Amino acid sequence: MKSYILLLLTICTFQLYSSAELDDSLTYVWPLPAKFSSGNNTLSVDPELSLVLGGKGGDSSIVKDGFDRYKKIIFKHSSKSYSVNKRLVFDIGILKIAVLSDNDELQLGVDESYLLHVEKRNGQSIIGEAYIEANTVYGALRGLETFSQLCAFDYETKAVQIYKAPWYILDKPRFAFRGLLLDTSRHYLPVGVIKQIIESMSYAKLNVFHWHIIDEESFPLEVPSYPNLWKGSYTKWERYTVEDAYEIVNFAKMRGINVMAEIDVPGHAESWGTGYPDLWPSPSCREPLDVANNFTFDVISGIMTDLRKIFPFGLFHLGGDEVNTDCWNSTSHVKQWLLDHNMTTKEAYQYFVLRAQEIAISKGWTPVNWEETFNTFASNLNPRTIVHNWLGGGVCAKAVAKGFRCIFSNQGFWYLDHLDVPWYEVYKAEPLEGINDTSMQELVLGGEVCMWAERSDTSVVQQTIWPRAAAAAALMEQQRDHILRKYYLNCIASLALLQMPIE
Ligand SMILES: *[C@@H]1O[C@H](CO)[C@@H](O)[C@H](O)[C@H]1NC(C)=O
Ligand SMILES: *[C@@H]1O[C@H](CO)[C@@H](O)[C@H](O)[C@H]1NC(C)=O
Ligand SMILES: *[C@@H]1O[C@H](CO)[C@@H](O)[C@H](O)[C@H]1NC(C)=O
Ligand SMILES: *[C@@H]1O[C@H](CO)[C@@H](O)[C@H](O)[C@H]1NC(C)=O
Ligand SMILES: *[C@@H]1O[C@H](CO)[C@@H](O)[C@H](O)[C@H]1NC(C)=O
Repeated sequence: MKSYILLLLTICTFQLYSSAELDDSLTYVWPLPAKFSSGNNTLSVDPELSLVLGGKGGDSSIVKDGFDRYKKIIFKHSSKSYSVNKRLVFDIGILKIAVLSDNDELQLGVDESYLLHVEKRNGQSIIGEAYIEANTVYGALRGLETFSQLCAFDYETKAVQIYKAPWYILDKPRFAFRGLLLDTSRHYLPVGVIKQIIESMSYAKLNVFHWHIIDEESFPLEVPSYPNLWKGSYTKWERYTVEDAYEIVNFAKMRGINVMAEIDVPGHAESWGTGYPDLWPSPSCREPLDVANNFTFDVISGIMTDLRKIFPFGLFHLGGDEVNTDCWNSTSHVKQWLLDHNMTTKEAYQYFVLRAQEIAISKGWTPVNWEETFNTFASNLNPRTIVHNWLGGGVCAKAVAKGFRCIFSNQGFWYLDHLDVPWYEVYKAEPLEGINDTSMQELVLGGEVCMWAERSDTSVVQQTIWPRAAAAAALMEQQRDHILRKYYLNCIASLALLQMPIE
């Protein structure tokens, strides 16, 4: 999995330099930290690297488990010489991690900054030092990720080494929301695969797993309040229990990743009616969900009550995209309801979205909606709404100008199922495009790459996500100019070389 992340960088480097030597002018950390300096020393790392914890939050199992995970990644090659020759002295024998706060609540905007210092200690102690300091356990995890990327196995000495020490790194992400959407309705993905994907997100420091659980094709999730809903799953073996969902949320939290659940209404919801046909306006009109029947809102409320217990993240996605209301006014009881309420179908779409938003807000959630809701009735949208862009450019600029917060996912660049978008196009996207005012820029929470699953299942999902998601991750982590200068131009130059005819 690690190799996916570094693949992009590696390809480019190998094209520029024909030997397998590392190019010292590049920094092999992805995404690139905000600030760093390095030196010229090569340090060896003890395979029995031990952890020393400090600070009020140092006792957290999130840090200890993180250390154990990264230790396995760092020392993935076994090497006999160590067990034979115990006397070897390593430059780095201890990793100290200090976490200043003992609050491990994971929410949007949690402090993910960290300081990482790796230097050989001369003088008083024989054993050298690697040191991570962070305000929260999540900053410590990001520091561990970076530390693991500094460590490289040397096939000559068979030791894990850190090149270009001493390292001083100060890092902090550019955006608070750095997401990946995964669609588990169009194709069912087993829990183990979802976990692998979440694990891979942590390597690129992405921090929101947007779980598009349900869509028109299937309803795989257990909802205790309405136990027939998951009759809409493809088969009874392609389902997620409540316990699975808790497990996914906890697995993600241990990696500093929030889980934002989505129930997409009123369109994209045909599968709901398999268990409760009353949610369909009629057998021939199966979506959008029946706006004229309060049972629809009872079910939405029941789902949210159940999901609220599972998903602690403050944001909840209510969809609201691609709503075609044509069949509402050709269904007699809905048509009558529209007449009684003096509503056009467009107004009924708005009514539906706003009522679903009120339910979400009453459960303590901030509603996120796809951009069509904003495009269709911006002035009536609840001011707390976070607008989720997808259709094209310029939407976040319009949304923040009206005071809404925004998430950027311009499909032309960041829809991973668009296989014709090559990795270098991924860099052309910019969440802050067209937004010059600093206070408005702050309303852009970040962005998200989207892995829609109409045409991908377990067999291809990881290689469709990576390495392109890593390019978006880099852009969301650091300033675009910074990245372009360091990597992109090199890569473009090497691509140009590659495309030159060979005489
Ligand atoms: C690293 O070595 C190069 C070449 O010997 C030298 O020019 C450079 O100043 C050194 N850098 C540091 C940080 O010591
Ligand atoms: C449906 O719910 C709305 C909003 O709570 C309420 O005003 C209306 O009376 C309800 N309709 C029925 C038929 O119960
Ligand atoms: C129906 O709605 C329209 C437009 O919102 C409004 O002009 C009209 O007065 C309404 N009619 C009734 C009977 O409420
Ligand atoms: C019903 O749908 C048609 C087709 O979209 C539209 O032209 C018409 O205005 C709609 N009627 C009402 C009452 O919304
Ligand atoms: C933002 O700044 C750029 C470059 O300075 C300028 O070309 C553009 O017109 C500005 N856009 C707005 C909306 O002010």
